Amino acid sequence: MISELNKNNFNSTNSIIAELKNVTKIFYNRLPVIENLNLTIFKSDFLTLLGQSGCGKTTILKILCGLLRPTNGKVVWPTSTFTNSENNPANLSLVFQDPNLLPWLNVFDNVFLPLKLNNVTFQEASEPISHCLKLVGLYDYKDYFPNQLSGGMKMRTAIARALVTKPKVMLMDEPFGALDEITRFKLNNDLLKIYKKYDLTIIFVTHSVFESAYLSNKIAIISNTPGCLKEIINLSNNSRTDEYRLSTEYSNNCKYISKKLQKYSNENLNE
Ligand SMILES: Nc1ncnc2c1ncn2[C@@H]1O[C@H](COP(=O)(O)OP(=O)(O)OP(=O)(O)O)[C@@H](O)[C@H]1O
Ligand SMILES: [Mg+2]
Repeated sequence: MISELNKNNFNSTNSIIAELKNVTKIFYNRLPVIENLNLTIFKSDFLTLLGQSGCGKTTILKILCGLLRPTNGKVVWPTSTFTNSENNPANLSLVFQDPNLLPWLNVFDNVFLPLKLNNVTFQEASEPISHCLKLVGLYDYKDYFPNQLSGGMKMRTAIARALVTKPKVMLMDEPFGALDEITRFKLNNDLLKIYKKYDLTIIFVTHSVFESAYLSNKIAIISNTPGCLKEIINLSNNSRTDEYRLSTEYSNNCKYISKKLQKYSNENLNE
């Protein structure tokens, strides 16, 4: 069920969405945070970055989307990643741990924001916003303001806001980290439905081995100081359901991933 893939030996028939090539990031002449990182993201990947706190996961996402510039190396987005976009020329959406909703806007208007910034009129935006709110189960709460929402509802709003621009790629940085287990399970299932329905490519960060094993088809284990890609674990595409969470396969996968994570963390401690 699991296969180990050596860094860039993955042979996929899917097209390449993005590549990090020999990326090194140094902040203020300190030691590198990431060093010579090579990572290829293929279409329809649900790739999770897993590694200890401070190993550079957020930095990798920020470099990928252009919020940070690599000190050395480069990020390549083939032009095919950006074709056929309707409202979002970048075709890329970001979701962070903090939903970052504007408190003075209700749910509907928060989701409207990225379209409004792209000069889409309220009339044009109305249908896609309603569609995305229905997708995340928040349509009946469209008039609520952020202070009237639970943590899970805020995150759903952030996901609807990320989806409304019809992205091809979503970068998600610990989006469910602050949620209780049951809400997280539910949002995991909803996210997988959306991922399949829209054939998204998702690059996800979590600290939870369980969450990574449930959601991903690939897990990139990143070592600590400097962050290097140690291994990519490839998981089966077996359908993820509540029954799957109780399956032997899932439990074995979690053990396997956990061992790998420990191995690379201890390796660094022993150095
Ligand atoms: N803008 C910045 N300026 C200076 N140092 C930074 C900056 N951003 C990140 N760093 C440093 O880079 C290292 C990696 O940070 P990063 O946020 O990428 O880690 P992470 O793997 O996402 O950690 P966590 O799991 O805790 O979110 C940390 O040591 C951090 O202090
Ligand atoms: Mg982080």
